[in-house]
Amino acid sequence: MDKANNTAPMLEIESSRRDFIFTATKVVGALGVGALSWPLVAHMNPAADRNQLIPFPVDLTKIPEGAQLKLLIQGRTIFIRHRRGEEIKAAQDTNISDLRDPETDDQRLVPMPDGTLNRKFLVVVGHCTHFGYVPVGEQGLKHASGRYGGWYCPCHGANFDTSGRVRSAPAPRNLEVPFYRYASKTKIEILYRLKYHAYPKLLFPDCGIIAALCRD
Ligand code: FES
Repeated sequence: MDKANNTAPMLEIESSRRDFIFTATKVVGALGVGALSWPLVAHMNPAADRNQLIPFPVDLTKIPEGAQLKLLIQGRTIFIRHRRGEEIKAAQDTNISDLRDPETDDQRLVPMPDGTLNRKFLVVVGHCTHFGYVPVGEQGLKHASGRYGGWYCPCHGANFDTSGRVRSAPAPRNLEVPFYRYASKTKIEILYRLKYHAYPKLLFPDCGIIAALCRD
């Protein structure tokens, strides 16, 4: 059972391809340098707006099909899954009248700059809407992905489909879609608010720590 830990920065990549962990770590680490520097600069400005949204960039081209990138940004787990064709089809073909929390797959995607949808990539908050545990969803492992091919929450057995929609109790709602945007067709930015913690996190917001860990 995996519960979010607000004090343990973590970046984890789930993939059947073990080599991907090295590639993705380097890429996210490189992209994270900007995310590291910006919060620190923002912190030095006493007039900085604490409600300002900070972008954490992710290069989608580095996530192989069938793989999932798992990020922890300021205590929130984020899943970015590169869905296979059959997973997209299952998400699109679902009759939403059967759902506990009816949403189409398209409603859960953010448009790219040209207004079209990139259905290959699903971005969701990785916390079950029951008690907040982090569901498991290693693709290719049926028991881990749950009965609907998405995620399974080992807390009390909730299942989520390939769109992150809840398909079985006790979770009441779909996995949340975080604030994010497409900076280009191949790069997204996860948007988060800068939190200020007691020392030492005052100087090193969680995202900055992640970036530091990810660098070569
Ligand atoms: S926290 Fe997910 S089923 Fe309880």
